[in-house]
Amino acid sequence: MKILGIETSCDETAAAVIESPSDPVDSVKILSNIVASSQELHIKTGGIIPEKAAREQIKSILPVIDEAVAPLRRGYEDLDAIAVTYGPGLIGSLLIGVETAKTISYLWKKPLIPVNHLVGHLYANWLELLLPQFPALGLVVSGGHTDLVLMKDHGKLEWIGGTRDDAAGEAFDKTARLLGLPYPGGPAIAQAAEHLKQKVKDEKLSLFPRPMIKEDNFDFSFSGLKTAVLKETKNKKFEVKDKERLAAEIQEAIVDVLVNKSIRAIKKYRVKSFLLAGGVAANNRLKEKLARLISAENVPVRLHVPRASYCTDNAIFIATAACFNFNKIDWKKIAASPELTIMD
Ligand code: KG4
Ligand code: ZN
Repeated sequence: MKILGIETSCDETAAAVIESPSDPVDSVKILSNIVASSQELHIKTGGIIPEKAAREQIKSILPVIDEAVAPLRRGYEDLDAIAVTYGPGLIGSLLIGVETAKTISYLWKKPLIPVNHLVGHLYANWLELLLPQFPALGLVVSGGHTDLVLMKDHGKLEWIGGTRDDAAGEAFDKTARLLGLPYPGGPAIAQAAEHLKQKVKDEKLSLFPRPMIKEDNFDFSFSGLKTAVLKETKNKKFEVKDKERLAAEIQEAIVDVLVNKSIRAIKKYRVKSFLLAGGVAANNRLKEKLARLISAENVPVRLHVPRASYCTDNAIFIATAACFNFNKIDWKKIAASPELTIMD
C-alpha cells in the first residue's frame, strides 16, 4: 500500500510517499520525502509569525506534493491513500494542508486519513530498522508540546503526563532568545553547549532549577527556567564563553527533568520500548543521558530515537502513522483543529 503524507502544521510544508511493508516485522519504505521550510524568514524575526508561515505554505504546497508524487511510475494513480496532519498547529498553516488534501482526495478518488501531528511524531520510530515493541512509552517533546504517553498498541494511547506551562522546545527557543542566539533555539543552544563540552570536561551544571523533578507524577514545568535565565542575563554583557556556559546550563536543566521523569515512568509501567519523538528528540545530550541512565540503572527497556532529520517536522511520519492506523474518514468531515491534544 502506498500512502502520500501531507504535513503543514507550522513552518514546514512537507509531502512524502511511503510504502507499507508486506511483512509487519519490516519497516516502511520511503519512496519520496520533500520538505520546504520557511525557517529562513523566521530567523530574521527571531520566531514564527503565523501569517507569514501560512503565506509560505500556500506558495509551496502544490510544488511539494508534485515533487513527492513524481517518482511513482503512474504518478498519483499509484497511491492507495492520502494522510494529512489536521492538528495541533497554527490554524493558517493547517488549513492549507487540510484543504489541499481534501481537494486532491476528492479529485483523485483516494481515501483520506486525518493524522494527529503529535501521534505522527511517535511514528518516526517506525522508520528505523529496529521496530518498537508494545507496551511502549513515548515522550513527545516538540516546539509546542511535551507529553508522556503509554502506547499499549497502535491506536491505544493513554496520557500519563505533560507540561503544565511551556513545552520543552519552547523553553529552548525562549531562553536562546535571551542569550541572543538565533531561532530555532534548540539546535543553537545545543551547539553552544557542545563548544563548552569540548573545552571543559565533567562540568558540573546546576545553576538553574529543575522544577517538579522530585514530584511523584509525570508532569513538567519549564516556564520558571525562562525567568531564571532572564535574571541571570538582564542588563548584563556577556562574552562568548559565558554564553556557552549558560547554554550548557539551560540544556542540562531541561534534559535532567525529561530524563528523570522518563526513567521513573519506564520503571512504573514496565514497558518494552521507550520512544523519543519531536524536534527536541534530536538533542544529543538528551539521547546520551537517557541511554546512560537506562544502562547504569539496568532498566530492562529498549531506547528508540529516530534519526535527527526524522525528529523534526516531515511528512514521512504522518504517512507512517496513517499506515498503522488506517482510519479513513469522509473528506467532508475533516477539519483543521489547532487545539488538538495527543489523546484526541
Ligand atoms: O517537532 P518540531 O520540529 O516542531 C513542532 O512540532 O513544534 O520541534 C521544533 C522544536 C523547536 O522548539 C526546536 O528548538 C527544537 O524542536 N529542537 C531542538 C533541537 N532540534 C530542534 N531542541 C533541542 N536540541 C535540538 N538539537
Ligand atoms: Zn512537530
